[in-house]
Amino acid sequence: MPYYVTTPIYYVNGEPHLGHAYTTIAADVLARHMRQRGEDVFFLTGTDEHGEPVAQEAERLGITPRELGDRNAVRFKELAARLSVTNDFFIRTTDPEHMAKVAEVVQRIHDNGHVYAGTYEGFYCPRCADFKTEAELEEGNRCPIHKIELQIEKEDNWFFRLSAFQEPLEQLYAERPGFVTPQNRYNEALSFIRGGLRDVSLSRARLKWGVPVPWDESQVVYVWIDALLNYYTALSYARDGEDLTERFWPASVHLIGKDILKFHAVIWPALLMAAEIEVPQKVTIHGYLLLGEHKMSKSLGNVIEPNHVAEVYGPDALRFYVLREVSFGSDGEVSAEGFETRYTTELANEYGNLASRTLAMVERYRDGVVPSAEPPAELAAEFDGLVQSVCAGIDEVELTATLDEIWRRIKRLNRYVQDEEPWQLAKDDAQADRLDQVLYTLAEGLRVVSVLLHPFMPGSTERLLAALGREELGLDGARLGAVEGGATVGELGQLFPRVEAEAPAA
Ligand code: MSP
Repeated sequence: MPYYVTTPIYYVNGEPHLGHAYTTIAADVLARHMRQRGEDVFFLTGTDEHGEPVAQEAERLGITPRELGDRNAVRFKELAARLSVTNDFFIRTTDPEHMAKVAEVVQRIHDNGHVYAGTYEGFYCPRCADFKTEAELEEGNRCPIHKIELQIEKEDNWFFRLSAFQEPLEQLYAERPGFVTPQNRYNEALSFIRGGLRDVSLSRARLKWGVPVPWDESQVVYVWIDALLNYYTALSYARDGEDLTERFWPASVHLIGKDILKFHAVIWPALLMAAEIEVPQKVTIHGYLLLGEHKMSKSLGNVIEPNHVAEVYGPDALRFYVLREVSFGSDGEVSAEGFETRYTTELANEYGNLASRTLAMVERYRDGVVPSAEPPAELAAEFDGLVQSVCAGIDEVELTATLDEIWRRIKRLNRYVQDEEPWQLAKDDAQADRLDQVLYTLAEGLRVVSVLLHPFMPGSTERLLAALGREELGLDGARLGAVEGGATVGELGQLFPRVEAEAPAA
């Protein structure tokens, strides 16, 4: 089955921070899991390079928007690689192929009668690149997100007849209760639609940095329309000489932060309907990573630097931490202290130690060969249905709950070692069978949790599976008892070594 997952494309007006890394990590977990399931996966991320947010920052720096894009797109690309992210393509909205396709789709929307000339007058936030109603503004006409004072803008634009899509959108939501998840976001989007839709600008007259409107080259396509179309345009040129649209469209899931819900859950499906393109299967929304009370962002200057953390602690630790600490879908605080606590108690002690103890005992008591045995019934029962529930959790994009499901088994295996005390069993030859059972169950349990954890922590799980002599990642084998003993274990070293006096904050 084709599975197409996307992240938002990130503005290149600044360097990537942990908030951006968060969505990309989450999307990578989905993509990796689906590959393990044998699905035909395409995973897209990239950068949003047009519009005011980028043009204004470039002007401030005294460079061209293109130079700024070139400088920062690389940083987003490099961060993805550093976090072991396996995107199949990295789109930049300055790619000529993207721009040509945007022009084509916008022309189609125009030809289908959904565009008209009008005048926009109202508040506009250049940092959001979004038009704001008075009700949305904070005191002093400030942007609720960026806190800057907004000016009234007036200009002649081309408008997209969003209002005409109120009924089709309501119908879409009625027919597809899973179109937007989680449920509270579905409700939020639907009530926004029911509240009445106003037409939106499809172009900007004053700005020059963008895709020229094909029937009026004095204007550029409004950056949000240009950006949203990336999910569709990328498939047409991501592979040389091949158009992947047929194979992967519509997207299985667009993963986004809650700040851009309106664009993805309202404007995006309306645009697609206007262009007679199939709407995505699902839009899934996550919350904010907060530092203290604030959303992490470039402008608020309160950033935990993901490159640094990945370098010092490894990418897996960061991937694990953000998905474990903050319930996926909700807002939640992250901190250097919280990171260190989880690194030590969960990664190093609960998982890392379990792994090194198990390998050491197989080495010491069984000459490095995992014995064959049956796991005890009670423990086996607690692993029953695990793979199915992990698959269901990933289908629902409940990443924190899924991680917790797996982690509960790690804790269970730790309790098992404590209860069985294999080091005592080893002193008594009459307990040889029992020791075989304990060692087999530990090795097999570790193998199962590592296969299931692989999308979350690819590097460490691969190392551990290699040390267990069982590198197979397919989910068919992710059942306790699916693999017999007989493997020769290898060296592992410390999966999560102690880091001396290092704080993850930059
Ligand atoms: N360029 C637009 C998106 C266009 S998509 C067609 C944009 N870019 S952005 O760089 O500002 O950030 C987009 C996304 O980054 C957010 O939707 C969210 O997924 C992620 N995050 C940025 N800061 C975040 C947090 N502090 N916490 C969680 N996610 C955050 O908007």
